[in-house]
Amino acid sequence: MDKTELLDNISRLKKEKNAVIMAHYYQVNDIQDIADFVGDSLALAQQAAQTDAEIIVLCGVHFMGETAKILNPHKKVLVPDLEAGCSLADSCPADEFETFVKAHPEHTVISYVNTTAAVKALTDVVVTSTNAKKIVDQFPKDAKLIFGPDRNLGDYINGVTGRSMLLWDGACHVHEQFSIEKLIKLKEQHPDGLILAHPECKRPVLLMADFVGSTQALLNYATESDSMKFLVATESGILHQMRKKNPQKEFIPVPPDDSTCACNECNFMRLNTLEKLYDCLLNEYPEILIEENIRKKAVKPILKMLEMS
Ligand code: 13P
Ligand code: SF4
Repeated sequence: MDKTELLDNISRLKKEKNAVIMAHYYQVNDIQDIADFVGDSLALAQQAAQTDAEIIVLCGVHFMGETAKILNPHKKVLVPDLEAGCSLADSCPADEFETFVKAHPEHTVISYVNTTAAVKALTDVVVTSTNAKKIVDQFPKDAKLIFGPDRNLGDYINGVTGRSMLLWDGACHVHEQFSIEKLIKLKEQHPDGLILAHPECKRPVLLMADFVGSTQALLNYATESDSMKFLVATESGILHQMRKKNPQKEFIPVPPDDSTCACNECNFMRLNTLEKLYDCLLNEYPEILIEENIRKKAVKPILKMLEMS
């Protein structure tokens, strides 16, 4: 099937089955372009909480599909490739996290959305990179807080909220790949470029950034800024929307440390393709399934997040 046929068939199946296609900003351009909705982790959760569609096709990684399913137990939630995991979610196994939580009984547990349903079931409130500061700010200054699993985001939020939350020692292998050395070289080549960085990056990169924020916040900042050039330290999928919204501006991906590639892609996010999206709509498979006792516990901190956002 050529690309035009694939796109036509995806649109036809979507209508026939009353399905909605939601895509994260890190998806390949073709998927972003055919999706009904493109957004960051928070926006995807908010959209999933209010959709009327019978089938949700979540073009993102596994935990994003789980979040949609947790909010919609009676709907079918599909992801084009079930192997699309997340190194950050994997860095926080539920049994180890439970031991950590139990060792600090007076603490409120705040978990980044990049976690499994089982970790969310151990959590008091979920956050995303868009709302983490806003939610942490709502706790009293002397509240005892645990933040997991991203040590870089946790460290950043501690800094901007004046907290000393206990941090789980996890990280995203994509965002940790940005090195200060390569960024300094890129900035030397483009002194007029503003540095935009996602808070999952390491502290030295964040300290060098002109603006730190979630994918949505980076997109908004680039669109509203008077600057004409940006050096972008996050997964390079976001450049598609940055360029679409700002065709007159220049966006340069910051390269990862350990390769000669010019941009940094999440191998998990990139497992989803147009072909797999078509197959998954056609066969209504692979589907996200969650044990009901885990789902019932995991929905509470997600609803809490939506309320506090
Ligand atoms: P946001 O969508 O919250 O910006 O998070 C980025 C990310 O790494 C998603 O996996
Ligand atoms: Fe997970 Fe990092 Fe990929 Fe996002 S970019 S899905 S945090 S591995």
